[in-house]
Amino acid sequence: MERPETLLTEAERLLAGASSETDIEAVRIRFLGKKGELTAILRSMGSLDPEERKQLGAAANSVRDAIGALIDEKKAALSGALRNERFEAERIDVTEPGRAYRLGQNHPITQTIDEISEIFLSMGYSITEGPEVETVFHNFDALNAAPNHPSRDLTDTFYITENTLLRTQTSPVQVRTILSKKPPLKVISPGRCFRTDTPDATHSPMFHQVEGLLVDEGVTMADLKGTLDFFAKRMFGAEVKTKFRPHFFPFTEPSAEMDMSCFACGGTGCRVCKGSGWIEILGCGMVHPNVLKVGGIDTEDYTGFAFGMGVERIAMLKHGIQDIRLFYENDVRFLGQFV
Ligand code: DAH
Repeated sequence: MERPETLLTEAERLLAGASSETDIEAVRIRFLGKKGELTAILRSMGSLDPEERKQLGAAANSVRDAIGALIDEKKAALSGALRNERFEAERIDVTEPGRAYRLGQNHPITQTIDEISEIFLSMGYSITEGPEVETVFHNFDALNAAPNHPSRDLTDTFYITENTLLRTQTSPVQVRTILSKKPPLKVISPGRCFRTDTPDATHSPMFHQVEGLLVDEGVTMADLKGTLDFFAKRMFGAEVKTKFRPHFFPFTEPSAEMDMSCFACGGTGCRVCKGSGWIEILGCGMVHPNVLKVGGIDTEDYTGFAFGMGVERIAMLKHGIQDIRLFYENDVRFLGQFV
């Protein structure tokens, strides 16, 4: 029969090599379990004489206690080690720099609308918006468009029904403003417009305009010119000059198109201005009395001016963009350049 002390040495050796709760439990079962080696010794003592039994019993009991203590010790040590191991694994380096999140930015068209709006806001204009699905009345009739005006044609305009359409211009917002507010009026209206154009480098069936309308007592063409000249200088540079070319729009009389001297070459002629030194930038004019009358405005007391510009065109000029379709392709390689 093995001596209890030998068992203690063996248990010590095994526990030293134990690296998990399972290992420790195996040691406990092997020595202290019901069928364990120490239990076997205690069981077999019946055949011994009393003196021997007393000695062996005492030795076995003290070895049992010793192994029990060793097991408890090892368990405590191991759980400390496991905890440290977990701490190590979960260690966070609080000095590590944060993860950089790539922020998006406004679409270049939105940026351009914001830039245009800022300039007019600084002159005391407010921003108003109108619906993209308009009535024929607001988009054409009330804007003094002749019954046979070509833009009314099905080939130019997306009709929803006979009387509703996707607005072809932001000018109907002039009508909505005149109908809903009393002068003095001083608004701009950015928004989306639609025409049945086939997409190419300079055309898109969906595009954006910014409309402007000012109605007050004693407003003249000089106010229009001063306002739009100021706008051009703020938008493209203090050195640009403007000129007004007679034109026709049904809703203004007189009507004009404003050109500005080319901001790229200063007016000597280059690729941007196609050699002419001038760039066409917007349409404008004195609000036609027929339009003011739609809102019951007394055209003896009140006059006004209006203007409308293409946002894509201005953005393309400013950034040297050659193809309008780039705006609508959602390619971040393009969009990401406008920070
Ligand atoms: N609505 C015109 C267009 O789409 C632009 C325009 C011209 C607007 C003259 C105006 C204006 O308010 O006075 O071509």
